[in-house]
Amino acid sequence: MTDDALTPAQIQQIRDRVAELMPQVRADLEELVRIPSVSASSFDQSQVTRSADAVAELLRREGLDVEVVVEGGRPAVIGHLDGPEGAPTVTLYAHHDVQPPGDDADWDSSPFEPEEREGRLYGRGAADDKAGVMAHVAALRAHAGNLPVGVTVFVEGEEESGSPSLGTILEKHGDRLAADAIVIADSGNWDIGTPALTTTLRGGIRVVVRVQTLDHSVHSGMFGGAAPDATTALVRLLASLHDADGTVAVAGLDAGEAADIDYDEQRFRAESGLLDGVSLIGSGSILSRLWNKPSITTIGIDATSIDKASNTLSAKAAAKISVRLAPTQDPLVAFERVREHLEAHAPWGARLTVELEEHGSGFAADANGPVYDEARASFADAWGTEPVDMGVGGSIPFISDFSARFPDASIIVTGVEDPDTRAHGANESLHLGEFEKVCVAEAVFLARLGALRSAH
Ligand code: BES
Ligand code: MN
Repeated sequence: MTDDALTPAQIQQIRDRVAELMPQVRADLEELVRIPSVSASSFDQSQVTRSADAVAELLRREGLDVEVVVEGGRPAVIGHLDGPEGAPTVTLYAHHDVQPPGDDADWDSSPFEPEEREGRLYGRGAADDKAGVMAHVAALRAHAGNLPVGVTVFVEGEEESGSPSLGTILEKHGDRLAADAIVIADSGNWDIGTPALTTTLRGGIRVVVRVQTLDHSVHSGMFGGAAPDATTALVRLLASLHDADGTVAVAGLDAGEAADIDYDEQRFRAESGLLDGVSLIGSGSILSRLWNKPSITTIGIDATSIDKASNTLSAKAAAKISVRLAPTQDPLVAFERVREHLEAHAPWGARLTVELEEHGSGFAADANGPVYDEARASFADAWGTEPVDMGVGGSIPFISDFSARFPDASIIVTGVEDPDTRAHGANESLHLGEFEKVCVAEAVFLARLGALRSAH
């Protein structure tokens, strides 16, 4: 690296400082994980308030001026601390809400009781995204009393529920979030030992389709064979969403190509837990399928359960489908294509209603310029390896709102996840060794941004 803003000794000092800080950072992370801050509305929302308060307290202790804001949704935390006169400003984003834990029986330890096993910390939110919150706190602590840049921390409380009130929060408090650089700590790295900048994310829509074939359910012996049941009709409809090889069959959706990064089928099988003998679906490179092409998943079905089944033709059935979209696809246009497909494929003239439950845009960064240069250098400082540019198949819908609102800010998407994190699943965990590197990288990044100003 030429024209380096920091000396190797300064970088080593930050590494040492972060290493000293890690035990407390880890303890504070565990306290956050103990709060079951599930933002899904069927869970106790007072826990989301508790976690907002806990995050606010952590930031106050670092000297930030902090406010918990509620704009019709879950509480978000905004904190600010000025930097030196004329220094650049950075906004640090994470979310303090988590996904539901799912079935406790699927976990090897209790989801809200953090436990370390073999270098990983297990618990819901241990990675996604309470470790993101703590990476920001760690970077602030590393520079305590001598912050090189102005910092605003924004910790949202409803990312896992699609950020419904984020638009209002941006309207009312957006001015406070303006910055030269925005660090979104809610993604991950390429592999253990290899850092990454996330330069594309997919968008998505969630659609509920309801099928009705009969006025009321009837005896399957008396009417079966001539009248279609709604469950079978629904299953045929869902089957029409993919071609025989599993490629999405909805016409008119955008699709792109991923950069040529080495990622083979064997690695994908291991990381996804795909069973031997089960084939991959879709076509094109695996990374293009994951990052740049649409995918459709049936995530829920309302139909008679096996326990309650009787010899009956069901009159109604419904499914919720999650459609991931190419990074630049307009989600509302995608919904129209999906709706048209469903209406055109309703089997046997079944009645359909198609409802858009949620939509969010993807993101494709302009991953260039001085802020990106410093971010890449910071990752290389922390890992001793240059970062790769990667896409992710998941979504952080509000990034596109942010980039529209702050077109001149460089948006850097980072995070603590690795291929074994199992975010959203049972046994979510954080790799503690990688976590420390994430904290070092962020602390170095703030220092580099501060030095950038004085160097030029
Ligand atoms: N941290 C994830 C986004 C992510 C997923 C980053 C995979 C890197 C890899 C985020 O918290 C998330 O799960 N987002 C939701 C958004 C949805 C609720 C609108 C998602 O992708 O399902
Ligand atoms: Mn997340």
